[in-house]
Amino acid sequence: MTTAIIGIGNLGSRVARNLVQGGEPVILAARDQSGADALAGELGALASSATVADAVSAADTVLFALWLDTGKELISQLSQALVGKVVIDPSNPIGPDGQGGFTNTLPEGESAASILANLLPAGAHFVKAFGSLGADALGSAANRPSGRAVLFYATDDDTAAGTAERLISASGFDPVKVGGIESAGRIELMRGDLHQNGGLGGRLLNVDEARAAL
Ligand SMILES: NC(=O)c1ccc[n+]([C@@H]2O[C@H](COP(=O)([O-])OP(=O)(O)OC[C@H]3O[C@@H](n4cnc5c(N)ncnc54)[C@H](OP(=O)(O)O)[C@@H]3O)[C@@H](O)[C@H]2O)c1
Repeated sequence: MTTAIIGIGNLGSRVARNLVQGGEPVILAARDQSGADALAGELGALASSATVADAVSAADTVLFALWLDTGKELISQLSQALVGKVVIDPSNPIGPDGQGGFTNTLPEGESAASILANLLPAGAHFVKAFGSLGADALGSAANRPSGRAVLFYATDDDTAAGTAERLISASGFDPVKVGGIESAGRIELMRGDLHQNGGLGGRLLNVDEARAAL
């Protein structure tokens, strides 16, 4: 089972590193192919690089580590190539607030996940995952010695849930489901009560703490 990671910035590169450390093969795709080639070379035999179209075609699972507007564009363009694939969305609906900070770019009641899920063709398996921690924590807290931290996910799809559980575990975290896509906003910035840098005020949770917080 292979995971394509589209976008290898702060988040995508850390997810790729964690998955490879957990024994999962990855195919990296970026706007700048040389960056994907270089990261794949650094990560070793389980990692390779390809164009976005080739990575999607060769993978069982596609994780779009992109800003929401880019994700919307790419998912619309790729559409039919995503049929039968598990699609993972870690995006947060945030943009600059004009004062050096960030603000939520969506109206109350909408989530990045609900927007992307609606763009997918029938037959794609969608899950919100890998976005509930900041990228630094995703890197530093994988397999933490004090006991695993939780990565939350949200989906209405059993196939996508199984894949999210496997990949989160391989990444060195414990998976906890928050609910269906209607609950995905709980694990997105800025409004999410279960996002590390939203309602959790920077905290990482273990499984017991995560279930209590739910
Ligand atoms: N950083 C975090 O702490 C964090 C935590 C949780 C969730 N997230 C979410 O993860 C997503 C990515 O965040 P990030 O911090 O990783 O952003 P980032 O560092 O800016 O990385 C975004 C990546 O997307 C690439 N990209 C842009 N257009 C592309 C295209 N058409 N095809 C392939 N790659 C393309 C960019 O490449 P170029 O450099 O060539 O433009 C860049 O490498 C966002 O939605 C964010 O909300 C981030």
